[in-house]
Amino acid sequence: MVKRKNKEEDLFHKNAKKLFPEEIGNNKSANLFNFGLSELRKESKKSNTPWVSIKHYKDTLKNNKIFNEIPEQGLSPEKIISVAVKKFFNGILNWRNPELQYNICAPVNITSQALICLAQEMNIHNINNDFAGNCLLAEKIISKMMADLIDIKQNKVKSLFSFGGTASNMYAMKLAINKTVPNAGKIGVPSNIHIFITSNAHFSHKTVGDWLGIGVDRLITIDSDSEGRSMVSDAENKARKIIENRGVIAGFFLNGGPFYNFTIDNVSEFVKLRSKLIKEYNLEYIPHIHVDSVIGWIWLMFNKYDFKKNPLNISPKILPIIKKQFKRAYKIRLADSWGVDFHKALGGCPTPCGLFVSNNGHELKLLSKSQRGICDTHHLGGDWSIDDPSDITLETSRSAGPALAALGSLLSMGKNGFRRFLTNQIMATKNFRDLIPNKTNLIVGNPRSLGFNTMVVIAPREIQEKKKQNWNSFLSLVENDEKLLTNLNNQLKLFYEWNFKKTKSDYSKRLGCSFSKSFYKTKFGKTISGLKYCL
Ligand SMILES: Cc1ncc(COP(=O)(O)O)c(C=O)c1O
Repeated sequence: MVKRKNKEEDLFHKNAKKLFPEEIGNNKSANLFNFGLSELRKESKKSNTPWVSIKHYKDTLKNNKIFNEIPEQGLSPEKIISVAVKKFFNGILNWRNPELQYNICAPVNITSQALICLAQEMNIHNINNDFAGNCLLAEKIISKMMADLIDIKQNKVKSLFSFGGTASNMYAMKLAINKTVPNAGKIGVPSNIHIFITSNAHFSHKTVGDWLGIGVDRLITIDSDSEGRSMVSDAENKARKIIENRGVIAGFFLNGGPFYNFTIDNVSEFVKLRSKLIKEYNLEYIPHIHVDSVIGWIWLMFNKYDFKKNPLNISPKILPIIKKQFKRAYKIRLADSWGVDFHKALGGCPTPCGLFVSNNGHELKLLSKSQRGICDTHHLGGDWSIDDPSDITLETSRSAGPALAALGSLLSMGKNGFRRFLTNQIMATKNFRDLIPNKTNLIVGNPRSLGFNTMVVIAPREIQEKKKQNWNSFLSLVENDEKLLTNLNNQLKLFYEWNFKKTKSDYSKRLGCSFSKSFYKTKFGKTISGLKYCL
């Protein structure tokens, strides 16, 4: 009995040494990563498809069975990785395949991947510089790079990495609350606080309104014009009513190029509206202006591009489109804060890799736990840290990986790399949108969008016959015929479902696009469904 225990103990020690190698820079986990990649290659039915289709195995102990219990004795890493690939990786998306147009998630740049792996290998926490060594510097360098993209002094801007677009909206909303009610951290959010959001806002604006205790009933939606841009006149009317009823407007959350239509709001007009309201009503607070630019920020790469000389030889067919969108995005410089997601679109980073950017970096002290008497972060032992962002961050544990990954992406691509990528996306989108009505009985549902996402709907027979296929005629038909719209929405859903079911046994054959049940609302509030092609 004693002997057996010793044997077990020996095994444990051997295993522990293997699983937790101490030498700095050993390549044991890299070897296992390599092993995992070769398993993935071996198990994939094809080497390069939009969806990964893994060979099918019977659920047996030998193949891929994992019990819903923690085993008494540990299994070998190779066995676990091999089983995980077989059991979990079927049906995952291959974001690097150009035929995948499912969503805005980023294909990962190998530089970023390597850097995030290094950060994870050493488990670097970007809590304070006692934890992080010099890694907090990566976040600061990126902050300066962001300042350059909008021509603001580098030391004015301060940025924080967090868990994505939802987090940057959360930071902005929390700042908006604290700016108007400095003691909100102690007394909670008063019931007269309102925040303006847009009708094209991502749902996370409501998530955050809910989580921060504002309540979605006090998120006021600004109506949009036919292009999807938020109407300043509507915001003004609604703002006046709130203020005259003793309400407080903590902030305006504007579009910085959201999904479906990629519209960027007129930020400067909203800044003017804010000044007008402050002056006329003698407001004692300054409503915060945040632009949700987690997708649209990429156009800022065109800052200082010589559109006249056009050194990248961008086709004149799309150069004006890019310039128009860039000029709108550049106005982000007038806002108080904005968001960047490196894990979306062309950002090149694994998820989550989001950045909250404050154009008035000093405002971040309004989030300070210590200065506002919220709590003492003594658990983190940052007493000797010169730099301690944990005093203002939402997270306590925060990996250095995202900041390093983002730096890897920015440095390895350079501005011209991003510009070329974006140009290719816009060109492909233009060609795609031009081809659709000519070759099919389908219609582009967002023809005015300046971005690289195309919504596709089925042309009603009435339009097909008249050969007058465009979004306006589609809209005028379905807006007056609810039955027709329901029918078309159903047809599209059935088509997508048919493809989904048909390809379940071999995901590699699945259509690259995705389906949205509600990408547009008619003037009577009815939803229009569409296929979503994010090129
Ligand atoms: C405009 C916009 N804002 C916020 C989000 C939420 O981002 P995340 O999923 O990184 O939290 C998204 C997600 O697609 C988005 O498109």
